[in-house]
Amino acid sequence: MMSKCFYITTAIDYVNGEPHLGHAYEKVIADVIARARRSLGSEVFFLTGVDEHGQKVQQTALAQGKEPQAYCDELAVTWRSLASKLELSINDFIRTTDPRHKRVVQAILSKLNAEGHFYKANYEGFYSTKEETFLTEKDRLPDGTFPAVYGEVTKLVEENYYFKLGMHQQWLIDYIEKNPGFIQPDYRRNEVLGFLRNNQLEDLCITRPSNRLNWGIPVPFDTNFVTYVWFDALVNYFSVPAAQGDPAIPPALGAQAAEHPLSLWPADVHVIGKDILKFHAVYWPIMLKAMGAALPRQILVHGWWQKEGEKLSKTTGNVVDPIAVINEWGLDAFRFYVVRELAIGPDGNWTDAGFQARYQSELANGLGNLVNRSLSMLKRYRDGVVPAGNDDLREAAAKTLESVKADFGDNQLQAALVDIWGLVTQGNQYVDRTAPFKLAKDPAQAKRLDEVLYNLAETCRILAVLLWPFLPGTSARIYAQLGLSGEPDKLSAAAWGGLQAGHRIGEPAALFPRKDKPTG
Ligand code: MSP
Repeated sequence: MMSKCFYITTAIDYVNGEPHLGHAYEKVIADVIARARRSLGSEVFFLTGVDEHGQKVQQTALAQGKEPQAYCDELAVTWRSLASKLELSINDFIRTTDPRHKRVVQAILSKLNAEGHFYKANYEGFYSTKEETFLTEKDRLPDGTFPAVYGEVTKLVEENYYFKLGMHQQWLIDYIEKNPGFIQPDYRRNEVLGFLRNNQLEDLCITRPSNRLNWGIPVPFDTNFVTYVWFDALVNYFSVPAAQGDPAIPPALGAQAAEHPLSLWPADVHVIGKDILKFHAVYWPIMLKAMGAALPRQILVHGWWQKEGEKLSKTTGNVVDPIAVINEWGLDAFRFYVVRELAIGPDGNWTDAGFQARYQSELANGLGNLVNRSLSMLKRYRDGVVPAGNDDLREAAAKTLESVKADFGDNQLQAALVDIWGLVTQGNQYVDRTAPFKLAKDPAQAKRLDEVLYNLAETCRILAVLLWPFLPGTSARIYAQLGLSGEPDKLSAAAWGGLQAGHRIGEPAALFPRKDKPTG
């Protein structure tokens, strides 16, 4: 029997955008969730990718004298390399120009069209190329102009296909009311409910005339049109399962035969930013309902980052380049800061001073110091050989494990780090309290020193296991310094008593070297 994978996705980034802190943050939190679920014992499928169609890509490619496909191929390399720089444990990387994606979008369009979900109508209105969206009178500022975020706004009259969204409004309200976990956190769920209760849902324009925009997926039943970017992009979550031969996806929706089919759909978590909530919580569920497919189990909405209290902006130079931070401070310092600083939900503020303070106090002086002094003392006083077991810190470790397990189940990543650092602090206090360096001077205290050294080494081992989803590199280094083989990638290994008497540890080395200079 094929078992259902825990299927987690991120938003697919616009291929022509600059990879920045916001993109990297979203991918890191999704990666931590994916690894946490693996650590809990689930089989996980983690998907990310890029969104490649649309007018902006077409225009820029043209301006650079390139074919849009060639232009996208170049940009996709940058995004893939960001994913590897972040050490994302992804199982697939989707590009919306992949043939496997295009055929699923077309299969869905054909089926929905045949079943009467679309109609053709004339539209007259204002269009923002920058945001690829039609605007209404309501979008105007008091002075009659449109907000700068929309860029140049032009008047358009054109014929398009529309998807009958409006008729599903009450069904969607009922669904969200009955399924409180569907949109998280709660205030985002309330925001969607408020929107749906107070506005008449308009039908969704799902095409663009190909004479205006040809960089898109052709509409299979009318080649004068290409698919509107959001109808194309949202389907990525579905086209990968279809390509993986998922039995939950019928052939009429584009499922392919696969040698080793995977059971993925419905997605367990779509991780997205707050700006694209409406697309995911309104359009996507209605598209799926019309397709006769199950809805994703959760849409998990994160907030937006600023830097030093200001909006991230390339023009003003207020940016955080994740690659530069990682090159200077290491990947785990970056992963730690973003997850520890900001819970999934509210907006966050990156400050260089805050980043450095957390590096120094929590990573270097907290975790790094605990591991380094624990292992160095074991090396110095017992030649690196683990003494017989003792239970001084057993209860503290067991309590931490229980809280972390619960946090993982609720995707409470920041809370899990707070819990783990509770154990780090208890470990450091234990060193101060038991003063092994004093015990070592008194031969009559040899047994007590054995006990203390065991507690410290075992606590370091458990920390490696608890930290694996967040800081996989650091966690592997702690394991290696403990002379343990294999990966600390299963939470079941965090039970007290794993280190055996007589085991010889490896070489201790600083995990987080001291840094005195500011980020550049
Ligand atoms: N291509 C669409 C998503 C399609 S999903 C079917 C898109 N792309 S994007 O590149 O503009 O944004 C990708 C993700 O990055 C979104 O979830 C967005 O919220 C997130 N972020 C972009 N800027 C951000 C911050 N400043 N902070 C945190 N996340 C932000 O939208």
